[in-house]
Amino acid sequence: MPQISIIPKPSNLLLGSGEYNFLADASISYEGAGADSIASLLTEYLRPATGFVLPITEGSQGTIQLYVEGTSELDPEGFVDETYKLEVNANGVQIHALNTAGLARGIQTLRQLFDPAILAKKPQKIDWQLPFITIQDTPRFRWRGQHIDVCRYFFSVEEVCKFIDLIALHRLNVCHIHLTEDQGWRIEIKAFPKLTEVGSIRKQTLVGHEGDRPRIYDNKPYGGYFTQDDIRTIVTFAEQRHIMLIPEIDMPGHMSAAVASYPELGNPGYDVEVRCHWGISQHVLNLEESTVEFAKTVLDEVMDLFPSPYIHIGGDEAPKFEWSECANAQSRMQELGLKSENELQSWFIQQLDTHITQAGRRLIGWDEILEGGLAQNATVMSWRGEEGGVEAAKQGHQVVMTPHQHVYFDYYQAEPKSEEPLAIGGMSTTEHVYAYEPIPAALPEEQYHQVLGSQGQLWTEYIPTMDHMEYMGFPRICALSEVLWISKEEKNYTDFLERLKVHRQRLAILNVNAHPRP
Ligand code: ACM
Repeated sequence: MPQISIIPKPSNLLLGSGEYNFLADASISYEGAGADSIASLLTEYLRPATGFVLPITEGSQGTIQLYVEGTSELDPEGFVDETYKLEVNANGVQIHALNTAGLARGIQTLRQLFDPAILAKKPQKIDWQLPFITIQDTPRFRWRGQHIDVCRYFFSVEEVCKFIDLIALHRLNVCHIHLTEDQGWRIEIKAFPKLTEVGSIRKQTLVGHEGDRPRIYDNKPYGGYFTQDDIRTIVTFAEQRHIMLIPEIDMPGHMSAAVASYPELGNPGYDVEVRCHWGISQHVLNLEESTVEFAKTVLDEVMDLFPSPYIHIGGDEAPKFEWSECANAQSRMQELGLKSENELQSWFIQQLDTHITQAGRRLIGWDEILEGGLAQNATVMSWRGEEGGVEAAKQGHQVVMTPHQHVYFDYYQAEPKSEEPLAIGGMSTTEHVYAYEPIPAALPEEQYHQVLGSQGQLWTEYIPTMDHMEYMGFPRICALSEVLWISKEEKNYTDFLERLKVHRQRLAILNVNAHPRP
């Protein structure tokens, strides 16, 4: 029997003596609202490696029994209690949860109780055994996420789904997908077809690092986007796994691809193309009434596609240069009674906040949305450090902590950098990620509950393939999943590294190109 090596470590685990033989006569039963969907997912997970076609029946007679015994009602922040109890004994496996999300976490733990070969895509000649065990498990944080950027480079539906399945394996529950950028617009919007006809294609791509001079390009057009049907496929895949898929439409900066498609969205006098290199663009949206309407229409289509309670509107890195230079923007500010360009940005975000709130969703944005006054219902993603998160929490808002110093997985992860593939910069080792504490030291205790959690960021300027994305993501995502699941006191890096050895076998079987260190 292999050692128990679950990542993230369950909050409570009691190993019994003995094991259950999981044989071809195994079956799955379910009771409670929605539990059948998790039963289907579990058979899909177990079939390829075992070759067993596990029958699913309603009731309590299965060798694997799934029970939903509570409510799926969302808390005020849009989350459910993911607590589950998993027991393996002489009768087989019983998983009890309050709702299907808890069951979804429970079956991921069950997958990790088997020999790693359970994750293989082809039948394995193995006697499948499960250790007698009782696991009572609740995550520390509600928001346990991973972000991916499909704009700087584009990834296929299959690749994104594989990535979401890896997120699920680590009992994370949020995937934040960055869909629009200066370098490419990657989601079909029916009302504005040129966003993808024009905006999804850049004429070439920078070779080397953004800081290198002279700039050298590859002279090859680069493009790609998700149709609305593609998005529906990804949304359904995430929903089955109870992963909250949060779309980001980044505004009013990072909009060169949109302005290249519809120049009337930009500020007059600037010739804007889909950007072919990295860094922060000076080009931003104008904030005329028609542009605000454009943004709302795009968000309406996005909200029709994505059921997530949160809609990310970006708000980061929007230079105020064009607005301060441009007579139209200055008169717009006067007309609206605004005293600064920062206030203009905040006014715009407030328009989006009202629109998103009226649709029954919540606006979330990067911490720059604090600068000209925070919109009433906004949740803040604190990326430039912890200060934005602390400030937003003090103002009574919910926050997600994403400080680049700890959870930017586009940063280097090992020394010497010269032996690593080119990255944006920085350094955040797996050990550094594991040591991260999402509650900022500067936050007063009465505001701790406003920290929803954290997530890793995978910006893809220097990550052209999914293989490379996996190399940057793993094992740092494994470390972060544990930071977000167990209490600060229970964390133990040495113990994590021991479990990681077995977990690496899982990643290898899943064809995940994880970094070899630590
Ligand atoms: C960001 O990294 N610009 C949010």
